[in-house]
Amino acid sequence: MWFINREEELKRLKEGLLRGESFVLTAPRRFGKTTLIKRVFEELRDAYKVFYIDLMPYSGDEEALMEYMLEVFYKGMGLAGTVKKMVGGISLRARVVFEELGIEIDLSGKKSSPLVRMSKVLEIPQIISEKENRRVVVAYDEFGELYKAQELVKLFRSVIQHHKGVSYIFSGSQESIMEKVFLSKDGAFFRFGTLVELGALNLGEVLKFAENTLSLLPHAITFLQWLEGHPYYTSRYLQKLNTGKDALESFEELLSEEMNYVELLVEKAKVTKHAIEVLRAIARGENPYKKLNIKSQMVTKVLEKLRLNGLLRRRERGKYEITDPILKGYLSGELNP
Ligand SMILES: Nc1ncnc2c1ncn2[C@@H]1O[C@H](COP(=O)(O)OP(=O)(O)OP(=O)(O)O)[C@@H](O)[C@H]1O
Ligand SMILES: [Mg+2]
Repeated sequence: MWFINREEELKRLKEGLLRGESFVLTAPRRFGKTTLIKRVFEELRDAYKVFYIDLMPYSGDEEALMEYMLEVFYKGMGLAGTVKKMVGGISLRARVVFEELGIEIDLSGKKSSPLVRMSKVLEIPQIISEKENRRVVVAYDEFGELYKAQELVKLFRSVIQHHKGVSYIFSGSQESIMEKVFLSKDGAFFRFGTLVELGALNLGEVLKFAENTLSLLPHAITFLQWLEGHPYYTSRYLQKLNTGKDALESFEELLSEEMNYVELLVEKAKVTKHAIEVLRAIARGENPYKKLNIKSQMVTKVLEKLRLNGLLRRRERGKYEITDPILKGYLSGELNP
């Protein structure tokens, strides 16, 4: 897989993690959060113990979450084989892991509440760091998924804040939720880590990469510009060019493949009254407050909602942009005249 750009972010994360700093990584869907974390982990793997935990599948089932986290921890310790062969249920598995580590924590006994047991699971990275005498990095990807479980978010904070040997990366797509948890004064993780907001790929870097990797035609450059450095679309487009398809063919193929997804975004947006009108205005570069016949309070509400959904991003005060260029083209009418 190609990895383009992000040198600055890579450097910041790596150096910060080395110093024991923790990070909050936010970006819209498909902007490369997971890719960046995996890349950082590859580069840190020799010096550190790294654990990647994806909270996307969390559905409110704490038992399942604990089981998954334990699995990540013991797989990361290289213990998976042994453990899998020996035992079945969560408490037994956990016990074996801890025995292997020489750690005495009794995780068994479902008599204790899930939160109590979860707090023990959350301690594991710190224990590993002490036992192995080296730093540990844990990434919780899609941390926003925990937002519906406020108790859990608070528990994470209260346990994790004492960890001297562990650096954390929290990443999330629903940027406004991430803001509430990490940036707002009453958020559970207020001032916990350094905020890194991932933007689109730098267009210059994209073109440089494309020129070095493929023989880039002027036509393709136009389409790459249109894709605005959107990481997922850009990389899909480059992959198509790489198979020898021409610039237009690659672009049309990309559009037809992604149209379902974009229509789904539109359907989701429609749930909010006036959302489509507001999005259309922004897609056309118009000011929704001035252009639309909607009360400004209402416009503000809709903008906030769309931001919460990750469809919009605020560039500067009062200036919004659509995060998905194909959605933007679809709404502005550019793609389907
Ligand atoms: N730096 C990059 N260089 C090249 N391609 C990238 C880069 N970042 C992301 N991509 C491409 O974009 C796709 C989406 O990236 P990724 O899954 O990391 O995004 P994400 O922000 O984690 O998305 P999601 O919110 O869906 O989890 C990847 O499959 C990859 O092909
Ligand atoms: Mg991801």
